[in-house]
Amino acid sequence: MNILRLEDLSLAGKRVLIREDFNVPVKAGKVMSDARIRAAVPTIQFALKQGAAVIILSHLGRPVEGNFAAEFSLAPVASRLGELLQLTVRLETDWLDGVEIKPGEVVLCENVRFTPGENKNDAVLAGKMAALCDVFVMDAFGTAHRAQASTEGVIRLAPVACAGLLMTRELDALQKSMLQPSRPLLAIVGGSKVSTKLTVLENLLNQVDELIVGGGIANTFIAAAGFEVGKSLFEADLVPAAQRLIRQAHENGGNIPIPKDVAVAKSFSAEEVPVIRHVGEVRKDEMILDIGPMTIIEYSHAIAAAGTIVWNGPLGVFEFSNFATGTRAVAEAIARSKAFSIAGGGETLEAIDQFGVSDEISYISTGGGAFLEFIEGKTLPAVAALQDRFVS
Ligand code: 3PG
Ligand code: MG
Repeated sequence: MNILRLEDLSLAGKRVLIREDFNVPVKAGKVMSDARIRAAVPTIQFALKQGAAVIILSHLGRPVEGNFAAEFSLAPVASRLGELLQLTVRLETDWLDGVEIKPGEVVLCENVRFTPGENKNDAVLAGKMAALCDVFVMDAFGTAHRAQASTEGVIRLAPVACAGLLMTRELDALQKSMLQPSRPLLAIVGGSKVSTKLTVLENLLNQVDELIVGGGIANTFIAAAGFEVGKSLFEADLVPAAQRLIRQAHENGGNIPIPKDVAVAKSFSAEEVPVIRHVGEVRKDEMILDIGPMTIIEYSHAIAAAGTIVWNGPLGVFEFSNFATGTRAVAEAIARSKAFSIAGGGETLEAIDQFGVSDEISYISTGGGAFLEFIEGKTLPAVAALQDRFVS
């Protein structure tokens, strides 16, 4: 990918503006998961080591522009980042018209989405951001699918614009899995709805050797194969789309396997005890909440045989421990496999954490929507802007 990289620049004495994605869960003024903050540390440390003055932009949540709201303040992020960097991170509320800063210092600008014009990618606002720096570093992979002033807009207007270390790692890992995969390439796409991932599934079918669907998505495919799904979460209006995808897979010489057996219950409750049924034997008053043991063996074999694995979305209701078996088994099979594995998306990361396999996954993306859009084959606007800057 032709983009300027942070490592290619000399930053001594420069004002470096870094866009990070610090959109992390915050509860009662505390950061609940600092994964995205930790992932940003190498870029910030790299710039500091070179003698730069570091100004950071990020959003948090979706506040109303023009209004400060304490619940969306980056104050908890500033203190967590300070702990990780072992230095003081100054939170600046009034930053748009200039930031006073010396080399070696770090300033975090208050939530960029408080500023009018951010969401609609206002060029005047992007220009003001560009004027804050000598070098702009796009490191917010998780927000690279948004064309906003602090992402796409400022990249086009900054004196110099490059990709940060995290951004580069994300793009390299995604390229390696989607564009130059070692085969067979296996994708595992779970989650509740086909409708939210239809284009992801369509695009994946053209690239992968095998596609495994899970969760509510699998239920729609089970219905598409003509089986009873009872009270399961599924989308009746997407059954024809699922049938089309199954046909398309067969035409390409591939397959979208449906679970051979499933774990069912009479209600959606953590107290329910799973009953294992053959996929053809689900009753009208039951709901499918997980895959069964035969299916686990089959999927584990596919995982073991893969050269590359792309994983997004759980295979069952893993937040109920009785129905976490399938998702856990898949996570552990991926952990055991020698394939290059990449995982992304909020629920997937929760599952990886819960089952303690983070160290065995080759790359864990910080992106949710951005990760999905990349595997959907879409061009991320911030990446396109970086590519344009490289040639111009
Ligand atoms: C995310 O968490 O998905 C990113 O930070 C983007 O946030 P957004 O969906 O509110 O634009
Ligand atoms: Mg999102």
